[in-house]
Amino acid sequence: MTIQAVVFDAYGTLYDIQSVAAITEEAFPGYGEIITQIWRIKQLEYTWLRSLMRRYEDFSAITRDSLAYTIRVLGLKHDAATFERIMDKYLHLDLYPDALVTLAALKGRKLAILSNGSTAMLNVLVRHSGLDRVLDATISIDSQRIFKPAPDAYTLIEATLRVTPTEVLFVSSNPWDACGAKAFGLNVAWIERVTPEAMALACVKSDVVPPLTMFKAIRTQMDELGIQPDYRIHALSELPDLVARP
Ligand code: LAC
Repeated sequence: MTIQAVVFDAYGTLYDIQSVAAITEEAFPGYGEIITQIWRIKQLEYTWLRSLMRRYEDFSAITRDSLAYTIRVLGLKHDAATFERIMDKYLHLDLYPDALVTLAALKGRKLAILSNGSTAMLNVLVRHSGLDRVLDATISIDSQRIFKPAPDAYTLIEATLRVTPTEVLFVSSNPWDACGAKAFGLNVAWIERVTPEAMALACVKSDVVPPLTMFKAIRTQMDELGIQPDYRIHALSELPDLVARP
């Protein structure tokens, strides 16, 4: 494998979108987990619906709209300050613990993010987390005005990094994104953070399925789209060995 560039999805892959749960719980005690899960599910759904409708709004607007939807449908009342405090967390999401050390170990190859995030959101998030010191580029799909997994989104990698798709390893924990990248022609490593065995265990007969378990069943298992990633790994830390393979 002659990988010249390793390109990462941001939300859910380098950054833990579950790290908003503390602030949603603090803002709405007892509702933190269900807000976190409905918010993420609707956020992604809105990227797909707006892409299909050709009614692009950037990821910041979509993140606001999906949060507003979530609070409304749960019958919760919020003030502007609380809403902005929750939104601000999206600019300070936690990095996965192995993200920095993995990127450092991949030095020598072009390293970039390709994300549905808006340019403004991503630049602040990347600076806050220190990844701006190790990334060669942070690429938002903004300029294409259509979200991943649309092929036009993935064309930005070649246009920005001047590498061909066969020279790129694309890394995502989002099954739909891994499938989209593979369909486009990239080499793809999917981070399977929730194994089928763990999923089955979590769903063992119980009266109530917690929102996080429901989220894991909907958004972390490989989809039935007739496409498979090239590599299934369980953590970012497996990447240096993977790209070092001949
Ligand atoms: C990203 C998330 C939405 O594009 O997958 O970073």
